Amino acid sequence: MRYMERTLVLIKPDAIEKRISGLILDRLDHLGLQMTGAKVVSLTEELARAHYKNLEGKPFLEEVIQYMMGEFNNVPNHKIYAFVFQGENAIAKVRQEIGSTNPEKAAPWTIRGSFGRFIGDVMQNCVHASGSPEDAEKEIALWFKPEEVLDR
Ligand code: TYD
Repeated sequence: MRYMERTLVLIKPDAIEKRISGLILDRLDHLGLQMTGAKVVSLTEELARAHYKNLEGKPFLEEVIQYMMGEFNNVPNHKIYAFVFQGENAIAKVRQEIGSTNPEKAAPWTIRGSFGRFIGDVMQNCVHASGSPEDAEKEIALWFKPEEVLDR
């Protein structure tokens, strides 16, 4: 069992446009983790590319960047909502609640299964959550200054 993990959660432009941010936070709240960081971010292309560095060379990368920048949704200011959640098994708990990457394969009761969709080839899957402790720490450092996250 992993102890006291941290994970980065992003509410993406499609979820902001659909006004389901509250619903997503409500579902995550029920996991019993601690929210230790929260902010509204105006995403830069630089941050989007750094966040999805692992997708370099993938054919869908450019469209994912456009999606994250809000180009496919009616959301001004390149807005993304970013959170840090902390707790026992935080990474697996949050990933289980949001569901598989592909919204058509995600279990219907998950966030992505309920609200995600394809627009062309792009998966608009509402929410990001870190996939491993290593990724989580890298991602938290990209999105948050240390003083913006409550101490462990
Ligand atoms: P990835 O890091 O593989 O998944 P996850 O977000 O579940 O950790 O992919 C990052 C994002 O890229 C994913 O949320 C949606 C998008 N994506 C596509 O649009 N098409 C694809 O075929 C894949 C694998 C991902």
